[in-house]
Amino acid sequence: MNRRGIRMKETLWITITGAMLMSTLTASGAAGKSGTTTKTPWGKTPDGQQVDLYTLGNQNGVAAAITTYGGAVVSLKVPDRNGKLGDVVLGYDSLDGYVNDKSYFGALIGRYGNRIGHAQFALDGKTYTLAKNNGENTLHGGTKGFNKAVWTAKEIPAKNGQALELTYLSKDGEEGFPGNLHVRVIYTLTDSNELKIDYSATTDKTSVVNLTNHSYFNLAGPGSEDILDHVLTMEADKFTPVDSGLIPTGELSDLAGTPFDFRKPTAIGARINEDNEQLKLGGGYDHNFVLRRKPGEPISLAARVVDPKTGRVLEVWTDQPGVQFYTGNFLDGSVRGKGGIAYTKRSAFCLETQHFPDSPNHPKFPSTVLKPGERYHTTTIYKFSSEK
Ligand code: GLA
Repeated sequence: MNRRGIRMKETLWITITGAMLMSTLTASGAAGKSGTTTKTPWGKTPDGQQVDLYTLGNQNGVAAAITTYGGAVVSLKVPDRNGKLGDVVLGYDSLDGYVNDKSYFGALIGRYGNRIGHAQFALDGKTYTLAKNNGENTLHGGTKGFNKAVWTAKEIPAKNGQALELTYLSKDGEEGFPGNLHVRVIYTLTDSNELKIDYSATTDKTSVVNLTNHSYFNLAGPGSEDILDHVLTMEADKFTPVDSGLIPTGELSDLAGTPFDFRKPTAIGARINEDNEQLKLGGGYDHNFVLRRKPGEPISLAARVVDPKTGRVLEVWTDQPGVQFYTGNFLDGSVRGKGGIAYTKRSAFCLETQHFPDSPNHPKFPSTVLKPGERYHTTTIYKFSSEK
């Protein structure tokens, strides 16, 4: 072999080794945690409980970081129309942000998502009094909701991605709710770029349950000013109007001809400042939309949001009867989140899949009652894609 021949062989070997190294890095996660789950210790709560951060990565480089504190989605990196990954959820860089948080960034919400009027309800002739943490009302489970609990985590096998199981026992009487409630939430990041959330629960006394996730999305990525140019389509013909305490009046109102009509794709900000009583009460959108259910279809599309700047698309699929569309009206720039960014008014939107707020006090709303021997189970999927 001449010198040139040896060099060619060397070059070939280097190329092959390089390619093998690249693919190992991709598989092991150095290029975006593809197809892996990693666990990192994330500090201790003020009362000394250990908290961890799990990062689920799929084959496309999409990554979801979830903390055992409140089961919160800390970051969610998804591609734009050019394949560039960006973090599309608001949150904090470290545990103390979540411990002090009052905005519910990314958190699991329970035992009852959204409000219960006058912090009370009756069940089987008995009145239960809850913690008042929102004026006269109970919001998102009370003073110490599921968002302030440390959940027990376990990596579990998933067919098409990475899955993390979180469990929590909400004791009988916690925040005033009856029954020991065993709660199990499974987050699955699929290789189809979906974050799937399965919620289940059982109780030993008749109780009420309404679980959701409170992720705040800005599809344009970190530091983007507001979400008013994001285009929303909602699979809803009605919504539940509210009183001044944001408690549903009990009516289901047609949204045709109002700023609540998102049946056709419409920019979130197109009508948000219109002279409309319900918008004024919410300080923007902060309302439960009644989803159009398709008979026989357990999970259906609830909402679709497109960011025209990056082309990122979020679809929300659920089996729940409602979704709380909230436009971050209470964010006022006083909270600094990831990277020190001040989260200003309407810098994110939430689509909290749920039963209607205050259902325990509205017998005509779909029931949120869970009895011993029954199993609460619901699924919501946040699906990401992009368009040109
Ligand atoms: C929900 C409520 C809002 C607000 C946020 C959290 O979306 O409906 O009114 O409390 O949670 O700040």
